[in-house]
Amino acid sequence: MSIQILPESTYQIPDGDVVRIRQAHEDDLPGMEWDGEYAHFRRLYKQHFQNSRSGNTLIWVAENEEGEIVGQVFLSLLSNQSELADGIHRAYLFSFRLKPAYRNHGLGGHILEFMESYLLKRGFDTLRINVARDNLLARRMYERHGYRVVGPEEGRWHYQDQYGHWQAVHEPAWRMLKKLK
Ligand SMILES: CC(C)(COP(=O)(O)OP(=O)(O)OC[C@H]1O[C@@H](n2cnc3c(N)ncnc32)[C@H](O)[C@@H]1OP(=O)(O)O)[C@@H](O)C(=O)NCCC(=O)NCCS
Repeated sequence: MSIQILPESTYQIPDGDVVRIRQAHEDDLPGMEWDGEYAHFRRLYKQHFQNSRSGNTLIWVAENEEGEIVGQVFLSLLSNQSELADGIHRAYLFSFRLKPAYRNHGLGGHILEFMESYLLKRGFDTLRINVARDNLLARRMYERHGYRVVGPEEGRWHYQDQYGHWQAVHEPAWRMLKKLK
């Protein structure tokens, strides 16, 4: 797959900002650390950003009217784990988060629908998401959007933090899936 110019969307927070959902650029990477809260993912984000140049992983950010990064979503179209993303039918959405002040205003649902319509246009028919088992709010939102739990996910993975130290994650999750058509 080759480099993509990604479509954009906007969302009006009721009684609040207009949020722009747009392709991430390299100079957005510091803003995606949220004042240090996600600094431990610096290398991971950089790797995903480099992958995004191939078009196999796509990254959108949500930006408020002041130019602050208030959210992000990553979409894998082709992964070496083909049960997640096979490049043709199935895609995998991950690292989806909004800053707390931007939650529960419909923005997450809007972004999800935007991702789904983008995938449909690209010919994909299935979207996979892993949701942590203790994340009941996110699970409920996905269910309201038509996602169903299809099985357990052990949720063990590793990453190198900003100092180069390997960190192990164990976050048991549910595999959720939606047939887009
Ligand atoms: C999960 C997350 C991305 C969802 O985004 P969000 O903007 O809070 O989602 P929404 O506002 O669309 O939906 C949440 C609730 O707000 C309600 N809501 C409030 N105002 C709304 C409005 N104007 N329009 C639509 N829904 C509204 C919805 O009813 C919805 O309820 P539901 O969960 O019963 O469906 C966000 O909460 C988040 O970043 N959470 C922390 C990180 C995380 O858990 N990420 C997911 C990992 S899998």
